[in-house]
Amino acid sequence: MGEVDPTFIQDPQHRPKLVVTEARGIPQIDLTPLIDPSSPATAVEDLVDQVRDACRDWGFFQVFNHGIPLQSRERLMAAAKRFFDQPLEEKRKVRRDEANPQGYYDTEHTKNVRDWKEVFDITVEVPTVMYASPEPDDQQTTHYINQWPDHPPELREACEEYVKDVQKLSYKLLELISLSLNLPANRFEPFFSKDQTSFIRLNHYPPCPAPDLALGVGRHKDALALTILAQDDVGGLEVKRKTDGEWIFVNPTPNTFIINVGDLIQVWSNDRYESVEHRVMVNSARERFSIPFFLSPAHYTMVEPLAELIDEHNPAKYKSYNWGKFFATRKRSNFKKLNSTFINKFKHKTSSHHLLNPSLSDPKNPSIIHSAIHHHSAMGELDPTFIQEPQHRPKPAVIQAHGIPQIDLSPLLDSTSANANSIEDLVAEVCDACKNWGFFQVINHGVPIESRERLMSATKRFFDQTTEEKRKVRRDEANPFGYYDTEHTKNVRDWKEVFDFTVEVPTTMPTSHEPDDERTIEYPNQWPQHPPELREVCEEYVKEVQKLSFKLLELISLSLNLPANRLEPFFSKDQTTFVRLNHYPPCLAPDLALGVGRHKDAGALTILAQDDVGGLEVKRKTDGEWIFVKPTPNAFIINVGDIIQVWSNDAYESVEHRVRVNSTRERFSVPFFVNPAHYTVVEPLAEMTNERNPAKYKAYNWGKFFVTRKLSNFKKLDVENIQIYHFKKPKELKIDDVVSRVENLVV
Ligand SMILES: [Fe+2]
Ligand SMILES: [Fe+2]
Repeated sequence: MGEVDPTFIQDPQHRPKLVVTEARGIPQIDLTPLIDPSSPATAVEDLVDQVRDACRDWGFFQVFNHGIPLQSRERLMAAAKRFFDQPLEEKRKVRRDEANPQGYYDTEHTKNVRDWKEVFDITVEVPTVMYASPEPDDQQTTHYINQWPDHPPELREACEEYVKDVQKLSYKLLELISLSLNLPANRFEPFFSKDQTSFIRLNHYPPCPAPDLALGVGRHKDALALTILAQDDVGGLEVKRKTDGEWIFVNPTPNTFIINVGDLIQVWSNDRYESVEHRVMVNSARERFSIPFFLSPAHYTMVEPLAELIDEHNPAKYKSYNWGKFFATRKRSNFKKLNSTFINKFKHKTSSHHLLNPSLSDPKNPSIIHSAIHHHSAMGELDPTFIQEPQHRPKPAVIQAHGIPQIDLSPLLDSTSANANSIEDLVAEVCDACKNWGFFQVINHGVPIESRERLMSATKRFFDQTTEEKRKVRRDEANPFGYYDTEHTKNVRDWKEVFDFTVEVPTTMPTSHEPDDERTIEYPNQWPQHPPELREVCEEYVKEVQKLSFKLLELISLSLNLPANRLEPFFSKDQTTFVRLNHYPPCLAPDLALGVGRHKDAGALTILAQDDVGGLEVKRKTDGEWIFVKPTPNAFIINVGDIIQVWSNDAYESVEHRVRVNSTRERFSVPFFVNPAHYTVVEPLAEMTNERNPAKYKAYNWGKFFVTRKLSNFKKLDVENIQIYHFKKPKELKIDDVVSRVENLVV
């Protein structure tokens, strides 16, 4: 699918706002009473009530304990993946055409805009009898059969087995819906007992470079009776909430099915239940698979409001129409321009009636927090300490824009050619990035990908352990290195757990923050027993990234018109550099909490490895917007910290950033904090100041500063939380700085 060519571009009013409203979402219904014969009759009644509420208020619901074996679904998902993994040429061997609409295709459109996906359709009854043409008077029929690909060989069997299971579920759901309309349980059965036109679709949504412009499936309603959707853990389905028209993201829940009533049930129920608009968002990082089962009646079915559901006060709202003709028209419209037919055509008169349920329409409803608290997650519960003040909550708008600059470091690796020009270019790029963003990404940086991957997987193994195990290497006042899970930024708890280790072993630090206390203390690392490889993998990684850190310091020196080695002496001995392993578990209220609250880095330089999940946001200097840093495989994200701000006398500024969390995927990241020796006195470099540009900061002692920060995590100190602002010369003090000082009690 490659690039987002103009056929994928939605009209502006239909583009995903990338507003992910997760809220409580669509109702979740437990079907246990249907599969457990010992359930009391009242449990089934209860279930029917839930189905009625869900169909009326949402048109959508999720079911669990549905009786479909997980293996059946997983086998089909795996076979679908194997099928789509093939080259296009292979897949097109089973391409659908006008003669047979079953098979593969990659050019589906919804409302004339191309969908970012490829699909493979399989019909359930073999053969499926359909009208040959949409012409009302033409009674000729045609038989659809399936086109099975050679590869993967198991696809056919996996599909056939899955269909059997889902069909059983579909009948149970029809019974529940019948009962919920006060009809006999088997009221809908005759429409489906013979010559069903049901089919299943395997959907593949590849990662999309412009998820803000395209959709996986544009907004639409399902024309048939019932849809039973299996989706993977990526998610993308959005449902238009009836109360307020908001697009609600359907949070993937393992092993549930998402059910929605289609146009046929809307007509049969005479608008008691409405078919609801939905769409599929795509994302730039992960492919997604989903499998809808579309339950459809025999082609000769005449669809009209059921007699039991109409009376004098509530007359039929639709004229009757022939399902097969309707379906044939729809299918054909994919090949030819037809006068397309929608159910509205059969509606007698438009009657506007909207269900209003104010309790569901407020996304800030406290029940969101409540449900998050009661949901189990890797970190336990979202207790109120995680809740950010409203003005600091991640705005769900994800601005990907161009983002921070990407800098190719290959001129540094290429020592053979006389590449003075490309080094000059590189220095200029670094200068622009530091000045305009304070952040940049580097590629071709020379750190072997294996070293980073080994570190990431050891990190995962460490955090996968029980809290009890991890707390065996918990940091404490005696040693600030090790595991902890109660980090706070600006007094709000961060949704993460971390493991810190130091690079110089041991690292020498001042014993106390008291300015006159000259004593020092040596900190070793605390290595856990498990995973056994963690220590070695960390030490290897450190060696590699340290080389990169010196190269970056040289580039930054050069970019400030200083000699390449100007900053080296601060780091050549007794560095206080340390590395943090971060684990951000999925968070059920990503609109309320942050992985790390907004802050600036106090050290010299940060070199961050992040995985493919993403979450880092940087405050753009030009307009203060939070910009999402899109994960780039194997790149490092670099930012200058407060120390470089001071050394450069504000030529470069340390920029605020924060970390968003999400509800579906855990995230790992590893920042490497480059810090000088503890006895370093930080002040603007002499070369960076002159008469017209005097030093903007007083000198301060790095070790004392660092210890003050570290200790403030354990005790209330009698000093205000320390910030470089404190060393800024008074004439420069602005009201913002004063506000920050007061706010930043703990960083
Ligand atoms: Fe749909
Ligand atoms: Fe940071």
